[in-house]
Amino acid sequence: MNIIFLGAPGAGKGTQAENVSNKYNIPAISTGAIIRESIKNGTEMGLAAKSFTEAGKLVPDEVVIGIIKERLAKDDCKGGFILDGFPRTVPQAEALDRMGVAIDMVISIEVADEAIVERMSGRRVCPDCGASYHLSYKPAGDGIHCDSCGAALVTRKDDLPEVVLDRLHVYHEQTEPLKDYYAGTGKLKTVIGQIEVADTTRLTFEAIEGGR
Ligand code: AP5
Repeated sequence: MNIIFLGAPGAGKGTQAENVSNKYNIPAISTGAIIRESIKNGTEMGLAAKSFTEAGKLVPDEVVIGIIKERLAKDDCKGGFILDGFPRTVPQAEALDRMGVAIDMVISIEVADEAIVERMSGRRVCPDCGASYHLSYKPAGDGIHCDSCGAALVTRKDDLPEVVLDRLHVYHEQTEPLKDYYAGTGKLKTVIGQIEVADTTRLTFEAIEGGR
């Protein structure tokens, strides 16, 4: 099963991609996570991407298309995969089509902009292993260190309120048109993001398993 998660920044794509990955044992591929790892490691791609991500802008299409081509060629994608945060522009979706990648389902998680800004201010991430927490909805055991590796949690630079507003603007302008793109293929399903993560998770699995 090959699934794309669409949605505004902070809509819960990453959370749901991880849930689906665990249940179906297929990899969840987050272009954002790959880019953050490259920035952390100071690779050429990371250096080129840094200024875009930290300003809440999209990294150029050719860069992320290259990342996805390379990632989807790996063996663990042969039994299916989840794309979290790709495609994010119509040219990226067209590039995916040209790669001959068959997509079974596109799930758009819908959350109002005002709720997103509130959510993002509470997110904390592990700078070492990338695990994601939330001060209210998914707190770390002691509130400040990663449960998995013990590193001190930090706020993502692009989660600062002024950058979140820029990311939302970019989403509405460049990513939202993908809903029409995929509606035209009959593969688009909409999940209304709920206040409780568990409720969004239930609706996501209902969408995947044909309940709506
Ligand atoms: P990326 O990492 O993809 O960031 P994003 O899309 O902005 O998504 P987020 O990770 O912020 O949110 P999410 O929807 O995954 O939500 P989450 O589950 O974490 O990309 C970062 C940057 O990389 C981009 O800005 C861009 O520069 C670059 N980039 C990446 N892909 C690119 C591409 N294809 N093209 C060009 N550039 C690209 O949930 C959010 C938080 O809310 C969590 O803390 C969660 O616990 C909490 N929460 C609270 N309530 C709920 C609830 N009810 N459901 C789910 N989560 C909840």
